[in-house]
Amino acid sequence: MTRPPASQPPGTLGRVIAIDGPAGAGKSTLSRALARHLGLQRLDTGAMYRAVAWGAITRDVDPGDHEAVATLARTMSITVGDRVTADGKDITEAIRAPDVNRAVSVVAANRDVRTIMVARQRQWAEDHRGGVVEGRDIGSVVFPHADLKIYLTASGEERARRRSEEGSDWIARRDHLDSTRAASPLEVAEGAKVIDTTGRSIKAVVEEVLAWL
Ligand code: CDP
Repeated sequence: MTRPPASQPPGTLGRVIAIDGPAGAGKSTLSRALARHLGLQRLDTGAMYRAVAWGAITRDVDPGDHEAVATLARTMSITVGDRVTADGKDITEAIRAPDVNRAVSVVAANRDVRTIMVARQRQWAEDHRGGVVEGRDIGSVVFPHADLKIYLTASGEERARRRSEEGSDWIARRDHLDSTRAASPLEVAEGAKVIDTTGRSIKAVVEEVLAWL
């Protein structure tokens, strides 16, 4: 069977909702609520990049070693659902650790890692007949024909407050790396609806988005 091309038009994949935005914008809360309301599965693509970063750290591989990290991405078996596993281990909590926060944006800037992850994300959507997918490049690169694209943001102050355990300097550093990298930088995808969640309850944001569907 021939695989559908990357820019498959809408309708052939099932419904896809793309949610992008910087750290602490509220993507996970919104994607969970939308998936529940719409009866769709949810994919946290950040967890996939985090799993590769975790793989590098636990094997003493330099996150900046392009070839070694690409090989890891190619060979690690990663599952992302309610729990995250890699190499048969439950790493749901481990991928939120400070050392992973610090390494993940370097791993995610690796073009070969991205190619591998994007292929897996498209396969996931095919297998699940669509879904709510959150990340940094979902509306721009992974699913440019998504049925709905949302770019979620919030003030730097509020995002740092929501992620106080990571620290505002590290969040700012990660956002900078994610927005300035050459390969699929974080940006507002063409046709995306921009929602600023600063000072808003997630309930209000979910209601606003559901009203569009
Ligand atoms: O939850 P938070 O927004 O803090 O981060 P995440 O979604 O878990 O993503 C962790 C990191 O993975 C981001 O800082 C990006 O470097 C990378 N990422 C990416 O490059 N592309 C994606 N589609 C998702 C995440």
